[in-house]
Amino acid sequence: MIFWRVKPLDQILETAQKKALKRQLGALQLTLLGIGAIIGTGIFVLSAVAANAAGPGMMISFVIAATVCGLAALCYAELASMVPVSGSAYTYSYAVLGELVAWVVGWALILEYAVAASAVSVGWSGYMVGLLNSWGLNVPHALAAGPFDPNPGIVNLPALLIALLITGLLLLGTTKSAAFNAVLVAIKVTALTAFIAIALPESNPQNYEPFMPTGFSGVFMAAATIFFAYVGFDAVSTAAEETKDPQRNMPIGIIGSLAICTIFYLLVAAAMIGSVGAQPGGGLSQSAEPLAYVMRSIGWPIAGDLIATAAILALPSVILMMLYGQTRIFFVMSRDGLLPGVFSKIHPRWHTPHVVTIVTGLFVSLFAALFPVGKLADISNSGTLFAFFLVSLAVLVLRKTQPERYRPFRTPAVMIICPLAMAGCAFLFFNLSGYTELMFLAWAGIGLLVYYAYGYRRSHLANGTTG
Ligand code: ALA
Repeated sequence: MIFWRVKPLDQILETAQKKALKRQLGALQLTLLGIGAIIGTGIFVLSAVAANAAGPGMMISFVIAATVCGLAALCYAELASMVPVSGSAYTYSYAVLGELVAWVVGWALILEYAVAASAVSVGWSGYMVGLLNSWGLNVPHALAAGPFDPNPGIVNLPALLIALLITGLLLLGTTKSAAFNAVLVAIKVTALTAFIAIALPESNPQNYEPFMPTGFSGVFMAAATIFFAYVGFDAVSTAAEETKDPQRNMPIGIIGSLAICTIFYLLVAAAMIGSVGAQPGGGLSQSAEPLAYVMRSIGWPIAGDLIATAAILALPSVILMMLYGQTRIFFVMSRDGLLPGVFSKIHPRWHTPHVVTIVTGLFVSLFAALFPVGKLADISNSGTLFAFFLVSLAVLVLRKTQPERYRPFRTPAVMIICPLAMAGCAFLFFNLSGYTELMFLAWAGIGLLVYYAYGYRRSHLANGTTG
């Protein structure tokens, strides 16, 4: 049953050639796209949430989340280099586990990408409102928080506006967006480096005591949330169809960007904990702009403002990558007939899938306007973990069913790495809140209804059409 309506790999590669996007990205650009997608709200905002859950033990949470992502990245890289077409986990599942599983994965990826784009927009809004306030321009709370915020407002206007702005940028095309992205990556890497250089030397070993005030359960909860900080490396794989020599460049882009970000995060976490302490309920854990908070607390207020400014300038690159990934996944699902064909229309002059970009952008903006960052991030994580789980499974299945197929990048020790990746994803999923897990199940249920109402009959694979 699970293998029902499997789309042959050769057919996938052939469809991609017919309605092709232009190949223009190289290894360096991909790594930058990865870093652009990874470093964002997770480290800039959610690190405070992690401190509140785990205390200094959040160092372990960062390591757990990085390990799970690293394992999943090794699996992703094999499939991304083998099937270098757009669509990421959705496309891989279609080839390996069949249409129904692929649809559910594609549906879960909406949580990963679109909801993450909303989450980062809300994180950006927090820093923006903070900076405006420090300039004496008070944004009324009613316009700075959505109705579902723990401290409700009416609409999160800055979050809405930034999401719309990024949508406009994406409409204009990948190359321009990638260049814009490279500048923003430089800004946030500089900000994190400055943060580490200033705060780490201020470390006091006593700030690590008590190390795990909430025990291992707090550490695991924090890991499930801070997982968000690493999400994004897989967005690189969604650009496979626009990549030159994807066989070589995809693995470099995915694994390279994840490795660089992991090093930064561990140093930032160590600098935070060492310099001001990170006990649950303490100043850091309650801050909406934790990096700026640390700088101010250790007597560097101007550095604090500059880092906040860097966050404001740089977080949009994460929104851009998430939106980008989402539109490309919708594009491919539409090309397969599972979503309306208008979603895979390409604009004659901009060479971008403009209809799907506009529709996605409007939804992302709406969610950003209404919901708080923590909830959006956790829900996004649930979809991501589900997708990572299935990608790891797909690697194993494909090794069995098509052992002869050429694999430019092979996951090392696949019989160990893949099961570990799956176990890690399941572990983090079950450490999310019950509310989040329920939302995930509801979303999957809606997805199945949509599939049987539309895609099941319209599928190009089922109908023998090619789109
Ligand atoms: N990893 C991205 C972030 O931290 C999604 O914002």
